[in-house]
Amino acid sequence: MDKLVIRGGCKLRGEVDIDAAKNAVLPIIAACILSGDKCEIWNAPMLRDVFVLCEALKSLCADIDIDVEKGKIIIDTSGLMNVEPDGELIRKMRASFLIMGPMISRFGKFKVSLPGGCNIGTRPIDLHLKGFRALGVDIKIGHGYVEASASRLIGARIYLDFPSVGATENIMMASVMAEGETIIENAAEEPEIEDLGKFLNSMGAKITGLGTDTIKITGVKELRGASYKPIFDRIEAGTFMIAAAITKSTIKINGIIEDHIKPITAKLAEMGVDMEMSGESLIIDAARDLKPVDIKTMPYPGFPTDMQAQMMSLLCCIKGTSVITETIFENRFMHSSELKRMGASIKIDGRSAVVEGVDRLTGCEVKATDLRAGAALILAGLIGEGCTEISDIYHIDRGYVGIEKKFKNLGANIKRIIMD
Ligand code: EPZ
Repeated sequence: MDKLVIRGGCKLRGEVDIDAAKNAVLPIIAACILSGDKCEIWNAPMLRDVFVLCEALKSLCADIDIDVEKGKIIIDTSGLMNVEPDGELIRKMRASFLIMGPMISRFGKFKVSLPGGCNIGTRPIDLHLKGFRALGVDIKIGHGYVEASASRLIGARIYLDFPSVGATENIMMASVMAEGETIIENAAEEPEIEDLGKFLNSMGAKITGLGTDTIKITGVKELRGASYKPIFDRIEAGTFMIAAAITKSTIKINGIIEDHIKPITAKLAEMGVDMEMSGESLIIDAARDLKPVDIKTMPYPGFPTDMQAQMMSLLCCIKGTSVITETIFENRFMHSSELKRMGASIKIDGRSAVVEGVDRLTGCEVKATDLRAGAALILAGLIGEGCTEISDIYHIDRGYVGIEKKFKNLGANIKRIIMD
């Protein structure tokens, strides 16, 4: 298992280019199931999760060509079969459950292994199933599988008890060719939902209300192939913004959609970070001493849960008391025990973490417990005294393309140790 070794204390300088958003590309890949034509996804991030989802579609006899150099994925589902996908792949990555909606829409029935939970929470699918049932789908669960069948899909009004990203996406994809109109109320508003909706509309779907909490889908007869360039990854951008803040550096981040990072820039500005947009780039200057702030993760446009761990690393190094409240996932503070090994002062009380800033963090051996926790440990390693060695970095590779190369280009002392 590979490791990352970071020697702290380097200032960062220069520029970093942000990749396309993992959480936009994954549902877009699943949506290619809806058309029997070829689809092309440009500038796709060459990430483990992208490869795993492509493997899951290949296990359904989709024909997929990935050009790693160009970041281009060509997906041809003309030969798609309604067979059971490779259960191991589904369990390996919960986002593969996003093929459920498109497969029901295309074939009227589908059987797939129940997605597992993960380190950050049980990750239920009750809202996905509530939406499918409302569309006329019969759902059976047993022996670790969920089986869906529907003679016809009929549009419905669906209220989501929680604005679930995945449930909104799955219901959108299940209803694009249903008879009549579907209205999703209390829908998730994340930019990645809007991007999926734009991709579906480019395939001929009729979706309005994207980016709001009420999405209307008018069923159409069929969808055609499309070419699409997904949005930039606001969480990768936020990760590098915090890297600049934690090392008191000035860097330029290329690949920014200003609206998408507003919850993050608002918090960093409150702390005293100077930021300025220039076209699709953000120049961030964090040379000043920063102030502690309180963070509460919320559905978009609130502060993103996927930035909570990274922000915790920063707050550990800022004099004063900060309180972080995690409202989205029930177990998303595992990075705190690893940060405490580096000398951080963090008290966890249920969904809240009280962080007392310390003068210094010291490098040591730590373990990535999930994708964003791993990113948070890299950030802590950048300023930890001495060497920080991060293991289980396969978590990090799920969501960041060549993260050590990007940090090295910014001047960090970081290297990947390939373990056989
Ligand atoms: C997506 O996960 C993202 N993943 C996550 O990013 C992100 O943290 C999350 O949205 C929240 O923004 C992808 O897009 C691939 P949810 P998803 O359904 O869709 C509850 C990362 O680091 N819930 O909005 O699984 C659930 O328990 C990953 O890139 C139900 O109760 O998130 C959780 O508490 C981590 N019933 C909350 O909603 C359901 O049927 C948020 O889940 C579904 C969800």
